[in-house]
Amino acid sequence: MALRVKVCHVGDVAEGEFRAFRVTGVTWPVIITNLTGELIATAGVCPHEDVALANGWLEDGAIVCPGHAYEFDLRTGKCRHDASLELRRYKITQISDEIWVDLL
Ligand code: FES
Repeated sequence: MALRVKVCHVGDVAEGEFRAFRVTGVTWPVIITNLTGELIATAGVCPHEDVALANGWLEDGAIVCPGHAYEFDLRTGKCRHDASLELRRYKITQISDEIWVDLL
């Protein structure tokens, strides 16, 4: 059974931007990115060395980690610098204007 949590509302993340949202009981925030109107949910921590991605930036469909500037493709989670690394993506369910994310 999925652990589904409400993270934000549709209008909370502007197109071309991302925001980090704290979720009760979860160490790292969940990041919601609005990629040309498509909302994508990912973990808020870099799979390389546990650096907060909330301080990163977007570039060509990827979130760039502020730690070593590795790029993680938001649509696949794959790292463009190290194929062994993958950013965790979460399934999104939209209920009315609410964004719910399956953490498990
Ligand atoms: S800690 Fe994120 S790329 Fe190294």
